[in-house]
This record gives sequence, structure tokens and C-alpha cells, in this order.
Amino acid sequence: MAMKTAAFQKCINPGCGAQFDCTESIFKCPRCGDLLDIQYNWDEIAVPKKLAEFGRRWANRDKPPDFSGVWRFRELLDFCPDEHKITIGEGQTILQQNRPIAQHLGMKPDRLFLQYEGLNPSGSFKDNGMTAAFSHAKMVGAKSCACASTGNTSASVALYAQSCGLKCTVFIGSGRIAFGKLSQAMDYGAQTIQIQGDFDDCMKQVQDVCVELGLYLLNSLNPFRLEGQKTIMFRIIEALGWQTPDWIVVPGGNLGNSSAFGKAFAELKQLGLIDRIPRMAIINATGADTLTDLVNNRKLAWNGGQVDQKIIDDYYADLTARHFSPHTCASAIEISRPVNLKKCLRAIDVCKGIVRAVTDEEICDAKALIGKFGLGCEPASAATVAGLKHLLAEGIIAKEERVACVLTGHPLKDPNVTVNYHKDRQGQFSNPPLSAPNDLQEIIKLIR
Ligand code: F0G
Repeated sequence: MAMKTAAFQKCINPGCGAQFDCTESIFKCPRCGDLLDIQYNWDEIAVPKKLAEFGRRWANRDKPPDFSGVWRFRELLDFCPDEHKITIGEGQTILQQNRPIAQHLGMKPDRLFLQYEGLNPSGSFKDNGMTAAFSHAKMVGAKSCACASTGNTSASVALYAQSCGLKCTVFIGSGRIAFGKLSQAMDYGAQTIQIQGDFDDCMKQVQDVCVELGLYLLNSLNPFRLEGQKTIMFRIIEALGWQTPDWIVVPGGNLGNSSAFGKAFAELKQLGLIDRIPRMAIINATGADTLTDLVNNRKLAWNGGQVDQKIIDDYYADLTARHFSPHTCASAIEISRPVNLKKCLRAIDVCKGIVRAVTDEEICDAKALIGKFGLGCEPASAATVAGLKHLLAEGIIAKEERVACVLTGHPLKDPNVTVNYHKDRQGQFSNPPLSAPNDLQEIIKLIR
């Protein structure tokens, strides 16, 4: 089935570089097993000369593809003919300038921006990727799909599958998923299979299941998904009056976002649409810090695509030998074998990236701060502000630099972590409910 688009799939391993048509659903290079990228013949695409030209699409927001915060930028992810594009109104998100948190962190008050991706239809950034991947699924005629998930992917996949008529199976680890997310997968009608294992186990199983049964895979191994996630950066730039910030701060789990953001900036620079690439900080939880350990301690680097595979293999062999299973209250990023590791190394190279890990206590305090002064977020998202605090203290980020933290998920995704933090007075921002007898005077005494 040949279909004329200016896009093709290409293996990221420069020693291989195999190319494939976008009509193939392969998700890994069939020759060498490495990750695939979507690449474009840019001279065949009518890309606007200036990013600001995309802003004109706001005037057509009665048309679904122009309303979509992803497809509004469609020339920058031009792999799918219009008739296959799926949208449910994703990407209507807010970049909030947050002065109180900036001040709390000792930054100049107008320099901190929070990108609220929790405002997407399924409540997380995943919808940016799913609109793109489901469009590809439609383009190749997929009827049935699957994903492994720490929760948000399953919620988003279930919602998109239901809205475009695909059968859907989601795999989740046992006891590792926040209830808000599990409730969504069930409510949107996905078949939910809980595997006795963690996310990394689910991720391995789902790949085999997809090959065995010919299901369409929706994890971020799917390069079409990452094309959609690039638009989070386009919207940040849009909200800053088409300027790039100095820093992007993003949580690191399976490393799809960081990979997509690096690719977005490399392409914008190549196209002459930006003149400066922001730096990127990727924040792990200390209980799931594979990237931090590999990059900071074992000096793993992109190295022009010649990634030292032995460092990775030895690291994973050691995790296996120790029966290591990651642990963090930020269950969304409780991942120890991130599938997009190599693409993330490339993004670190492109964006002069830096990697840090933050503790669960730091995550919970940062989450409460974002709730107290902002629109709130789920724990994994708050790793960004916790990481920013470290990087300011280290002097790596200066207090006058413009920083955009990507808040990846909605606060209602994981109410348990929030309630426990406040009720049990776990941190400096805990705000537990007071208890009062059913008596007017006693109640009044409690009101501050
Ligand atoms: N933040 C949230 C809220 C997430 O749900 C995830 C990933 C991440 C950050 C990490 O992003 O993988 O691009 O580095 N959640 C996946 C899931 C793994 O299954 O929902 P990443």
C-alpha cells in the first residue's frame, strides 16, 4: 500500500540507517533492532517560513484539525494524509507564568513557566502523542491495539481507541497504577490486563503480544507518537510570543518526551524557524534513576550515534542480577529500562541536556507547592520543579533564565499521594483537614 507523503521511517543507528515507508507498522528496525525515527523530505513540504504563521490557524478553530493543538502544526509532522487524521481536541493546554513559585525558588518572578499538559482530554500529555499514533493506525488500517502502561498511556490509548473504533488491550503492573488512571482505562472500555510484575515486565510482554497477534503498539517506541509530542514544545514557543525559553525541564520515565522535544528543536533549528535551541533538564526519581546513573556516573553519551551498548547491557544485567525493581511515589516514572534511552541521549546532545534525580519527599513538596500556587499536577510532573530547585542551587540554571517546566499530568490522576501527603503531615506544605464537633462556636474557633 504505497501512500504519497514526504515522510519515511529511518533507523536511528547511523551504522544501519535503514529506511522504511510510513505505511509499515514495525516499531523497531527489522534489520538491527534499534529505534526508528520519522524523517521528512522538508523540501516537499510547504512549511511556513515563520513559526508565527501557525498562529493564523486560531482563526479557523471551528475546524477540528486547526483546533487541535497538535495538528495546528501539521506541516511539522507531515506523515499522514488529512483523511486519516484523528483528533478529539487535544493540546488545548496552558503555559502559566507562575510568580509565587518562581519567588519561592529564588528566581526572578517573571522567569518561571508551567506547561499544564494535564488539561488534555484524558488528563495527561499522552494525548499529544496518541492523536498522531492513532492517525497512523487508521492510515495503516489497524483494527486492534495495545500498550503497556504506568497509567496515563493506558487512559489515553483507551480514550482514543474508543473514539476511533479500535479494539484495545492495556497491560499494567500489579499494584503500580494510580487509581485515577486505572478508572479511566476501565471506563473507556479497554480490556485491562494486570500482569504480576512491574512496568518493565509489561513493556516486554506487550511487544511480544503485538508481534504475535499483529496488534498496533502504542507505547512511545512507536515513532509516530513522538511526532505528536513535539508539539508541546511548539505550544510553549507559541505562548512565549514565538520565542524559545532558556530551559525546558521534563520528568524522565520511558524518555519519550525528552526524545521528542530534542527532535523538535533539532528540526526547528534545521528549518531556520528558531535561532537558538534551549537547554533541557531531565528529572528522574531517585528510586528509578537509570538515566541519571548511566549519564552522570557511567558517562553514557550519544557520541554521534555510536552509543556504547556494553555500558547499557552491563547496567541492565546488574539490575537483573539484583532483582531490582524501581520504587517511587511518582508511579508514572517508575521505570528502570527506558525504551527511548538512545533517542534521549541524542536529545541531551542536541539540547546540551542535563540529568538529575530527586527524592520522593522532594517530589511531594514540589507537588504541594504547585497545588498551592498553581493548577496542580500529579507526582511525576512535580519532579520538574523539584529538579529545578536542585539546578538553581547548583548554579546550573541562573535565576534570571526563562524556564518552562512541563507538568505532564492532572492532579486528580493520583489523589492517594496527595491525600497522604496532607493528612499525614508529611511535608512543609501539608494542609490536613481539621476535625470539629457539630457545634457552631467550636467550628468558628477553628476558622483562621
Ligand atoms: N509524566 C507522566 C504523568 C507520565 O505518565 C509519564 C509516563 C511521564 C511523565 C514520563 O514520560 O515516558 O516520556 O519519559 N507515563 C507512561 C505511561 C510510562 O505508561 O503512562 P516519558
